[in-house]
This record gives sequence, structure tokens and C-alpha cells, in this order.
Amino acid sequence: MDLEEFRKHGYDAVDRIYNYYKQLQENPGEIAVQPKVKPGYLSTLGDVPPQHGIPFDSIQNEFKDVVLKGLNHWQHPSTFHYFPSNTSFESMITEMTIASINNPGFSWHSNPSSELELVVMDWIAGLFGFSETFYHSKNTSGGGIIQPSSSEGILVAIIAARERILRAENTRDQSKLIIYASTQTHSSAAKAARVFNLQLRILDVDEDLSLRGETVMKAINEDRQNGLVPFVVIATIGTTSTGAIDKIDEIGRVCQSESLYLHIDSAWAGTHLACPELRDELMLDGINEFADSINIGMHKMGLVSMSTVVMFVRDIKSVTDALTITPAYLRNQMTDSGAVLDMKDCGIGLGRHFSSPKLYFMLKSYGVEGFRAHIRKSIGLGERFRRYIEADEVFEVLYKPRLSLTVFRLGGTGDLNSLNRTFYNNLSIHSDKLSLTHTVVNGLYCVRFVTGCPQTREVHVDDAYKIISDVARLTLSSEL
Ligand SMILES: Cc1ncc(COP(=O)(O)O)c(C=O)c1O
Repeated sequence: MDLEEFRKHGYDAVDRIYNYYKQLQENPGEIAVQPKVKPGYLSTLGDVPPQHGIPFDSIQNEFKDVVLKGLNHWQHPSTFHYFPSNTSFESMITEMTIASINNPGFSWHSNPSSELELVVMDWIAGLFGFSETFYHSKNTSGGGIIQPSSSEGILVAIIAARERILRAENTRDQSKLIIYASTQTHSSAAKAARVFNLQLRILDVDEDLSLRGETVMKAINEDRQNGLVPFVVIATIGTTSTGAIDKIDEIGRVCQSESLYLHIDSAWAGTHLACPELRDELMLDGINEFADSINIGMHKMGLVSMSTVVMFVRDIKSVTDALTITPAYLRNQMTDSGAVLDMKDCGIGLGRHFSSPKLYFMLKSYGVEGFRAHIRKSIGLGERFRRYIEADEVFEVLYKPRLSLTVFRLGGTGDLNSLNRTFYNNLSIHSDKLSLTHTVVNGLYCVRFVTGCPQTREVHVDDAYKIISDVARLTLSSEL
């Protein structure tokens, strides 16, 4: 493709995106939310690429008609599954720009404009109400860095925590180290423990599914008596199953007195800190006082596309001490001067996606109030759905509802797990109309409903409730 062709096909690509969103906004019923394809549906594409290039238009058409036939439409207004993964037109345009300059930005020298990351991370620290500790520009030790995923944010936190304890104990032997997480922690903590070959202890939670300080303290005492070295707690604000929030203040006090590193995983809920009225529920004071680091997925509720997780660290040096390796071929005057933060020293990869422009464009275009309005709209829609469920006698809401997430099931007596499994399977028959996911918490099988897609309006929530209510009644009648 030459430059002129790029221009032509580029405009065409924007038209295709425009048409897709026009349909999502005006006629979403024409698009099945979840595809009906079977594994292997792409075998028709053949085993090898064409020997000679074919016209771009026809590739676009095949991609749309064949490949995207298998798309689960996360931007569809009737998507209420997992957690949102929303984006914005600002982010889409910026992705195109970033792709065009394709800069790995592993050091200041390799991309001086990567300095934008430090600027936007300070903006986001302000947006979320973080204390000066987490700003680059306030002459404190902390600041924000972008990670490709929350899972990698957790990896980086554990690396920093491990380095801190090994240096403090003057050893490189990690065999006694033990990580704490809870029964509700996302599986990425268990994966991190596996990646590092570190011991992990899963702690129990209270009736609100929150990890408590006294539980952590008890585990520390027991493990120390057994010769182990507890060194990091992975707490969560907004667990994946139910949105539960650990008691950050209690856990923080224990971590502080016992010299443990406290990392907070707030992959989904963290973006809600933008709204001052939610900050008490989301334990902002505890974050500001005690968190050594926190990860928040902007690619979930934060209006930017994938691979944009913001991670705020109280002491950036704890990360760079652990991750800085600078061979001769990466050395340069700026790095040697110590005047710059090289992003290769803040994450797992060397080269990285230049994600900060996505945050820059989105934040400038939405403004703080526009961003808050997006969060509040999603919560309003989530509460609308919850009110329907609460008012309907066949359902029960399980666990403390959080933000725009409702976890519910069919109530009653008998084998409710079996009943609700059937209910969910029956709901899945309507996956062209709406997308939902389930979870199992404390042995209870339940259905999750979460809003957050910018395309969703009240009518979509109302339609979803109607389907859910009809299927519930059908399930109950066929079980009788
Ligand atoms: C609480 C929590 N932590 C971590 C993750 C993993 O996020 P990522 O896909 O960015 O690694 C998720 C994903 O939903 C999550 O809900």
C-alpha cells in the first residue's frame, strides 16, 4: 500500500467504524451481542497467506464478513458481562496516531515525548484524589507509570516488594517468602506467585467478602512462627466476582507496623475514584495513607482502549531498584545523568506501547467533569437494574452491591445452585440479545450484571431486565 492508497483506505476504515457505531447506537438489535460460531470457524481462511498480495478492500470485506463474525461485541449497549472494556472515539483516533509513529519508548532518549506519561499520570493522580506522594511533580518519591495490564502491575509490585525484603534481609534466598491474598483476589495474584515460584497464602474474608486487618495479622504471626517471611499483601478494591472492597485502612496499619508491602488491585473499580462522592466507599484515605502501589485499568471503565493500566507507586525507586538493567547498547547521556525516568526500568517489557497519548486526548476532550459524568451514568444504569431485581420477588441480591455491579440469583428453597445453573443456561440462549456472565462465591452460583458501556441507555437496561425476568419465570415454571 502506498501513501495515496493509505489515505483512501484510511478514510474507508473510519467510515466502516462510523457505520458500526451508528448501528450500535441506533439499531443495536441488528447486531447479535455474542456470536454463534463454533471453535475452528476460521479454518476457511486457509493454511497459508496468499502468495501475492490481494486488494485491500477485499481483505477488509473478508475480515468483516468472516473474522468478525466471531466477535463478542463488548461495545454493544446490551453487554453486561465480566467488566466493561470501554473506549472512546478520542482513544480510537489516538491509537491510529500512535500506530503511525510506532515508537517503543523504552527510555527518554528513545522517545523524549514519552515524558507525556509523567504529565498525564499526575493529571490522573489529581483526577482520582491521590495525595502528593503519588505525583511526579511534587518532589516526593512516588509517581504513576503505565502498565500493559493489571496482571503485569501486580507482577511489578511483587518484584518491588521482593527486592525490598531481600535487600533488607541481606539475602537472595526467596524460599521463605510468602505472599498474602484473599479468597476473592483475582487469579492474577496466583499467576504471579507461580511466575515467581513464590509461596502464596489465601486468606479468608468476612461476611462482606472483605479481607480484614486482623486476619492478615494472624497469618503473619503464624507464618513467622513457622519460619516464613511474609512480605506483601495484594488487597483489592472491587473484586472481580462481587466488587468487594478489602479493609485497606486495617490492612494498611498491619502492613505498616509489620513492614509488609501493600499493593492494591483496583483493576475495575479504581476509575470510580474520579467521583468525590464515591471516595469513602473506595477507601481513598486508606490508599493515600498506606498503599505502596495500586493498579487501575483505564481500559476497563476509563474510556481508553486496551493495554492502558495506570499504576501509582509510593516509591518509584522501589520499582527501578528491582528492574533497572542497562547494557552498553542502551546507555545514553540522559540516562546517565539521572535526570529522566526510563520506562524500561518500570515494567517487564523493554519496548512498550505509547499509551499516554490516549489518556492525554481522552482527558483533554472529556475534561474531569465529562469523565465523572461517564462514571455516574454507568452507576445510574446499574442502580436502575438493581432496583428492578430488588423489586421482583423471584430474585435475591447476593452480597453488598458495589457501584454498577449487581450479583443476584433466583431465590427460594431446594437446590438453588442447580436451579440457577439452569437459569443461566437458559439466559445464554438469548446471548444474541444480551451478554451476561456468572460466578460462584462461597459455593453459591449466581449471575452478574454490570454496566459501563458508553452505548448503553435506560432502554437497554429495561430490555435486559425484561428478558431476565421472562427467562426466570420460564425456568421456575419448568422446574415445578
Ligand atoms: C480485580 C481484577 N484484577 C485484575 C484483573 C486482570 O486484569 P488484566 O486483564 O488487565 O490483567 C481483572 C480483570 O477483570 C480484575 O477484575
